[in-house]
This record gives sequence, structure tokens and C-alpha cells, in this order.
Amino acid sequence: MKIISNKTQIREFAQNKKNLGFVPTMGGIHEGHISLMKRSVKECDFSIVSIFINKQQFNKKSDFLKYPRILKKDIKKIKKLKIDVLYLPKDKEIYPGGYNRKIKISQLKKRLCGKFRPGHFEGVVDVIDRFIKIINPKKIYLGKKDLQQLKIIEDFLSKHHPMCKVVPCKIIRERSGIAMSSRNYLLTNHEKKIASKIFHFIKNNKRNFIKKRITPKKIKNNVIKFGARKIDYIELLNINKLTKPFKKNTNFRIFIAYYLRKTRLIDNI
Ligand code: PAJ
Repeated sequence: MKIISNKTQIREFAQNKKNLGFVPTMGGIHEGHISLMKRSVKECDFSIVSIFINKQQFNKKSDFLKYPRILKKDIKKIKKLKIDVLYLPKDKEIYPGGYNRKIKISQLKKRLCGKFRPGHFEGVVDVIDRFIKIINPKKIYLGKKDLQQLKIIEDFLSKHHPMCKVVPCKIIRERSGIAMSSRNYLLTNHEKKIASKIFHFIKNNKRNFIKKRITPKKIKNNVIKFGARKIDYIELLNINKLTKPFKKNTNFRIFIAYYLRKTRLIDNI
């Protein structure tokens, strides 16, 4: 596996590679990331993984500063996977002229995380747009763990980079049920147990939520009782109606964002 930090070099590598897969990450590599990488290796002739903690998409400086940084461990894990290139760009190479303040993204940005993290999705789409322009992959592998992000990127790519297809990948969970996340590195064992209880409670009540046999308020009260400090949202949404073209059948997911101490966790169940 080559490790490249230089934009010219990564361009050179990516050039003329027809069936190129790309897995963007912010590091803190876990089994969720690894499942995306394995799928890219399986489906593509060449695979590039990036680790870049994209400051722009953090709407709180403290969140950016405490984001897990464990590059040595990350490299060790990725080396085992037949990835061709690990791209570790520097801030200046990605944003030579600063951020794109004019980026236009799907109206879905107004809901869920977009409502609670202003500017977050613009930051995500800006960096993905830049990566695609440098690498020009045929496929980009994204996790359904961040389903709103996936839908917003998919919508943006269909308009601006139609040659690059999003491959949605299933959520990888710990045995306790909680979705794998780099932010789990910031949790204590006690907090992981709380997260697991919250996951099972929501999962077991999904039908009740759909059938309106339990109120959103009651669900929220329970999540707080389990030990969440704060809830940004718990919403039931039909994901087939999130972005156009809408599909006819329904596919309900419960979207949740909450805090355990200072760590913000999201999931959809
Ligand atoms: P990051 O949180 O590092 O996630 C990188 C990719 O891994 C995303 O597509 C995310 O959905 C996927 N992923 C994370 N946890 C997962 C899990 N438990 N199961 C399956 N997939 C999972 O998301 C980002 O980084 C950034 O916003 C990024 C897209 C890289 C732009 O900066």
C-alpha cells in the first residue's frame, strides 16, 4: 500500500484507472470503515482510502479538537486490506483558496443533523466535491450509518459528478447493538452500556412508533432516563421520501442524535 500526501502524486496514480473505488474517512478506523474498504477492494480494480479530518464540517471547535487521532493504528489496520493507496492530504492542498461558500446542496440539509449542526453538510459536500475532482473515482463507498449524509452526497453527485456512483453500505454494529463509530473511542464502558440500552429500546419500539402506539415524547423521556444528557432529535422518517426521485414503497427508519456526556452519537434504526 502506497501512502500519498501530495496532490500531484495522487492525481498521477488515479489517472486512467478505470474501475477506481474511493473510501473517504476521517480516521479512527473501525469495522464500519473496514467493511466499506473490503467492498471497494472486492468490486473495483483499484481502491483509494483517504483519512482527512475535515475541519470545515465541525461546527464546534471542541468537537474537532477531541476527534480521535490514531493514525499509526489506522495505517496498521488498512495495510491488511489490499488497499492500493492511502491518501493523507494536508489542509492546504485540499483548500488552497479556502472553503467554497457558495456550495448548493439538497434541501434535506435543513432537517435532522442539518438543523442542529449548521454548515455541517456544506462542509461535507465541499470536501467530497474536492476529492472527486482530484481522484475521479468510478464509485464512492459510503455507510448507511450516516444516511442523511449519504443521501445528500448522492443527490449532489447525481447533479455535479454523474460519472461517480454512490455505493451505500450496510451499518456495522458492535455485539451490543451500537453502531460502530470513531466517536465510540471517546465513550467509557458505562456509556457504551447506556448506548446499547438506547439502541435496543428504540429497536424494540420501532413498530409501536410506526403504529403510533408510543408517543415521541415517551420515547425521548426513556432515552433521557437511560442516561442521555441531551437529545437533538428522534424522528421517524420514510427514507424513500427523503430525496427525489421518490420511491413508492415505504422504508421507515428512526433517526436519532443524542449526547452521552459531551459525545454526540447518531444512528438510524
Ligand atoms: P467517517 O465518520 O470517518 O465515516 C467514513 C465512512 O464510514 C462514512 O461513509 C460513514 O457512513 C461510514 N461508516 C461509519 N460508521 C459506520 C458503520 N458503523 N457502519 C457502516 N459504515 C460506517 O463520514 C465521514 O467520516 C465524513 O463526513 C466524510 C464522508 C469522510 C467527509 O469528511
